[in-house]
Amino acid sequence: MKKTMKVLSFALALIMILGLAACKGGTSPGTSPATSPETSAAKSPAANASLKVGISMPTKSLQRWNQDGANLQQAFQAAGYTVDLEYAGDNDVPTQVSQIENMISSGYNVLIIAAIDGSALTEALAPCKAQGITVIAYDRLIMNSDAVSYYATFDNTLVGKLQAQSLVDKLDIANKPGPFNFELFTGSPDDNNIHFFFNGAMSVLQPFIDSGKIVVKSGQTQESQVTTKDWSSANAQSRMENLISQYSYGPKGTKLDAVMSNNDSIAQGVAVALQNAGYTADNFPLICGQDCDKASVINMRNGFQYSSVFKDTRTLADAVKTMVGQIAAGQTVQVNDTSTYNNGVAVIPSYLCQPVAYTIADIGKLVDSGYYTWADIGGDKGTLPLDGQIK
Ligand code: GAL
Repeated sequence: MKKTMKVLSFALALIMILGLAACKGGTSPGTSPATSPETSAAKSPAANASLKVGISMPTKSLQRWNQDGANLQQAFQAAGYTVDLEYAGDNDVPTQVSQIENMISSGYNVLIIAAIDGSALTEALAPCKAQGITVIAYDRLIMNSDAVSYYATFDNTLVGKLQAQSLVDKLDIANKPGPFNFELFTGSPDDNNIHFFFNGAMSVLQPFIDSGKIVVKSGQTQESQVTTKDWSSANAQSRMENLISQYSYGPKGTKLDAVMSNNDSIAQGVAVALQNAGYTADNFPLICGQDCDKASVINMRNGFQYSSVFKDTRTLADAVKTMVGQIAAGQTVQVNDTSTYNNGVAVIPSYLCQPVAYTIADIGKLVDSGYYTWADIGGDKGTLPLDGQIK
């Protein structure tokens, strides 16, 4: 009898240990962990309740992060996971650090993090590897940390290329003599993505700058000269105002053909400065952007922004949900890029979603796909000064 009890309690302990290992995640990037009975089959929602997923978003002041947070929270709750969604004030790094530390100390198994400052989380994430916590960098690479298992984002180099190409194509720079006057704006210096956005854009613009077809009168053509802290519209507006006064840009002053802006919140600030300088919809310099923010789509319909790059946050959330499901089930996590994103410690296996350039001709797709309603973006066609035609 005694011997039977010993065997039974050993078997019970073994099942419990194997069950815990399956829930802790902590798979090394791109490989499947040792399988155990619990990890071989996909988990049912009830079993997923043991998985605790922490979501750390940078701010609510930029529209897209509200969508990202809501998409992720909804997806993980539907999968039966325990979910904690936190916003770090308005891009407040110490708040994000303490929120992440709380998730770690509360036993969260998977962390999804859109870093405010990609280089500020090394210490906070230090316990993750030893504790088997899986960290997925969300649309912004976390730098100088051995804790990052995966990166889920878009093809950020392509984002920059699409932005610049939309301006070059609209102005027909390849075929016209020029010169065309541009100014350049990228995002926050603490966001590793700007290297990819800016270099992508410059891969299109630099040949024309070298040939003299594109002129940047300020001479500010290096990434470090054109950053916008926190991607802030106010910061972009004040830099554009300085450029306007320094180089006399205006409808009756120095010609300004285009502003290369690496995202929509910057484009919105630039547009206000240009409106204040007297530009109107029928002579507005072309501005590109990224994220198809509601305010920017409305500007596109009113002639105050030419293009944006659409990054469907639903697609990104779905990709991350799939990755977490594979982690929970102990399966190999599907990635499609294992060479581009080096975070200073290792090349991080990444899943890149595809961005697409949108002009006024495309915004109906945002409504048709259910991303927005017409009310979100200024009302039905024809309810704005411009009737939705490309100017
Ligand atoms: C970047 C992100 C962009 C945009 C920007 C402003 O990291 O890739 O899509 O959202 O932040 O928040």
